[in-house]
Amino acid sequence: MNAVADTAIFFGKFLYYFLESLVFKIIPKGKKNVSGETVLITGAGSGLGRLLAIHFASHGANLVLWDINQEGNLETCRLAKEKGDVKVYAYKCDCSDRREVYRVADKVREEVGDVTILINNAGIVTGKPFLEIPDHMVEKSFLVNVMSHFWTCKAFLPAMIKANHGHLVCISSMAGLVGINGLSDYSSSKFAAFGFAESLFLELTMIKKTKVKSTIVCPYFIKTGMFEGCTTKYPLLLPLLEQEYAAKKVFNAILEEQVYLLIPKFSYVALILKQIISPKMMIALGEYLGMDSCMTSFTGRAKAKELHPEAERKEQ
Ligand SMILES: NC(=O)c1ccc[n+]([C@@H]2O[C@H](COP(=O)([O-])OP(=O)(O)OC[C@H]3O[C@@H](n4cnc5c(N)ncnc54)[C@H](O)[C@@H]3O)[C@@H](O)[C@H]2O)c1
Repeated sequence: MNAVADTAIFFGKFLYYFLESLVFKIIPKGKKNVSGETVLITGAGSGLGRLLAIHFASHGANLVLWDINQEGNLETCRLAKEKGDVKVYAYKCDCSDRREVYRVADKVREEVGDVTILINNAGIVTGKPFLEIPDHMVEKSFLVNVMSHFWTCKAFLPAMIKANHGHLVCISSMAGLVGINGLSDYSSSKFAAFGFAESLFLELTMIKKTKVKSTIVCPYFIKTGMFEGCTTKYPLLLPLLEQEYAAKKVFNAILEEQVYLLIPKFSYVALILKQIISPKMMIALGEYLGMDSCMTSFTGRAKAKELHPEAERKEQ
C-alpha cells in the first residue's frame, strides 16, 4: 500500500475513533452484566479489594478471594455472601510467591472453574526515603505489586483467550504515572504494573482477542489505611479519596470496560502537564499542590489499625 493511501486510512480511522469517543462522552456506554461471572480479587481481605468484592456479589458474580491475611479475607467472604445468592470462595495465598500463586490457581481451577474477571489488587507500601528502604522491602514491593500480576495472568489468561471472553484489571496508582518522593520502591513497582497491563492490552488487541478486556486503574490516595498519615494541600484539586467512592468508580469502569481510569479527574491534567512542562515547572507545581510533602507524616497500615480498630466494620 502506498504512503498516501496508508496515511488517508490512518486519518480516517483517527477521526472516526475521535468522534466515537466524543459520542461516548455524551451517551455513556452500556454496562456489562457480571452476573454468573467468576471474579478473582487478590488482596480481598481489606480496603478496595473488600469493597469491590461486595459490589460484584451484589451484582450476582461468583467470587474467588485471595489474601495473605486469612482473617480479613474470611470477613470479606462473609460480607459478600450477605449481599446475594452467590458462591464465594476464600483462599489464603501469598501473591509474592510464584509457586504458591500457581498452586492455589490450580486449586481454584479444580474447585471453582475458570476465572473470567481477574483483579490484581494486592499491594504493599514501604513509605520510606530511598536510602532507608531495606533491600528485602524493595524486593517484596516488586513481588507483590507487579510480579504477582505476571503469575496470576499466566495462570488465568489462557482460558480467557481460548474462550475470547474475560477481563484483566490492574490496580496501579497515580504513583505509577508520576514519581513521588518517599515512594521510590512503590512508585517504580506501580509503573511496572501499568506497563505490564498496557502491553498485555495491546497484545490481546493484536491477536484479535478483543473480548478479553483490560482496565488499568490509577488512583490518588484512598482512605483505606494503606497510606495513613498522608496529606493533601488542596483537597478540591487532589482529594484524599473516600474508599467507597473509589470502589464505585473502579467497579463502574470495569462494567463500562474502560481501559484507563485515573481518579480524581485532576490526575488527567497533571499527567498531560508532566509531558509538556519543564522539570523545574513540574517541581514548582508539585510544591504548590503539596505533593513534595504528602509523605512526610506517613505512618501506614500498622498505625491505621491502631487508630481505627473499628475500620473493618465501617467498610461494610
Ligand atoms: N490506598 C491508597 O491510597 C491507594 C492509592 C493508589 C493505589 N492503591 C492500590 O490499591 C490496591 C488496594 O490497596 P488498599 O488501599 O485497599 O490497601 P489495603 O492495605 O487495604 O489492601 C491491600 C490488601 O493486599 C493484601 N496483601 C498484601 N500483601 C499480600 C500478599 N503478598 N499476598 C496476598 N495479599 C496481600 C493485604 O493483606 C490487604 O488485604 C493496592 O494495590 C494499592 O497499591 C491504593
